[in-house]
Amino acid sequence: MKLFDVYPLFNITPVKASGAYIWDDKGEKYLDLYGGHAVISIGHSHPYYVQKIEEQLHQIAFYSNAVQMPLQEVLAKKLGHLSGYHDYQLFLCNSGTEANENALKLASFHNGRKKIIAFKDSFHGRTSLSVGATDDAKLSANINKTHDVVFLPLNDIDAFEQEINEEVCAVIVEGIQGVGGINIPSNEFLKTISQACQKHGSMFILDEVQSGYGRTGKFFAHQHSDVAPHIITMAKGMGNGFPVASVAIHPDIKASHGMLGTTFGGNYLACAASIAVLDVIEQEDLITNAENIGNYLIAELKTISGIKEIRGQGLMIGIETEKDAKAIRSKLLSEEKIFTGFSSGKNTIRLLPPLNIGITEADIFLKALIKTINHI
Ligand SMILES: Cc1ncc(COP(=O)(O)O)c(C=O)c1O
Repeated sequence: MKLFDVYPLFNITPVKASGAYIWDDKGEKYLDLYGGHAVISIGHSHPYYVQKIEEQLHQIAFYSNAVQMPLQEVLAKKLGHLSGYHDYQLFLCNSGTEANENALKLASFHNGRKKIIAFKDSFHGRTSLSVGATDDAKLSANINKTHDVVFLPLNDIDAFEQEINEEVCAVIVEGIQGVGGINIPSNEFLKTISQACQKHGSMFILDEVQSGYGRTGKFFAHQHSDVAPHIITMAKGMGNGFPVASVAIHPDIKASHGMLGTTFGGNYLACAASIAVLDVIEQEDLITNAENIGNYLIAELKTISGIKEIRGQGLMIGIETEKDAKAIRSKLLSEEKIFTGFSSGKNTIRLLPPLNIGITEADIFLKALIKTINHI
């Protein structure tokens, strides 16, 4: 069997990683400012995280969701504490797209409706409903195009007010649009959605798969605004590389047996990894670090010539360049040995580093970026 060739690959073979650094099979060292798509939250191979997963592996690695699993309760309690959503309910699953599938399905179970409002440049995943709510026609096959989804411009309050009514099942929006190029929904816009959903009985879903878990200097990006959605989805940073995702659900939404379910979701190892991540976020005050280093990076980036616009919060940063961002990113990797991300539609370099990077890593990047922009 050979691999199904769906990914364009860099010619790099990582074999070791620690903190914000990766080493390849030739011993070359790279600075990782992308965290494998925002996944590495507490740093690669954090010793506490490794220890906790290893200890769990020696105890019990898996049983299905048919038995008592106190680790799930520990995780739910800790997540409630750190996020401030103490009274929400937690459903555990395995990936971002699955979290969004469950969120949308749950919304429809709750109000019985079908229509979804999503936003231009959104990305919610690659499966049925979540790809249906993703604003990229290339990602959807015909079979995905059967859902009732309308895409509105982000932050366009008038367009939203014209579309929202008693037929709308759910409104789904990213805390900050990531794949779409780092676009931030305004406080006013989120408040309008929240109030309208309340009025019309629609469910307000915040996709925090990329923007959550402390990345923006708050536990969730939407907490920079004063709204509390009905449903919040999480994934990437939650397991620091261990595949785990979840849905936080408003107390008014009642569960019933069989409504949602999964084989692997919430397994012992996923819980051990997720609890370790939250412990480290708390013990090392990584949310404050993300805010501080993010503020430093954003302020410094604004002084560099050749940059059109900086968008972002904390350590979720988009750098829209005057010259070709793809070429800059490619040179940063091949010559400066720095991993960054990219958003094609916006000619934007995306930074999604581990939350524990310091000023040293920020300065290495700033110096390398200036050099690269000047040499392109
Ligand atoms: C905002 C957002 N939602 C959902 C997803 C899908 O997550 P996954 O790839 O884990 O299915 C992504 C992935 O990039 C994302 O950025």
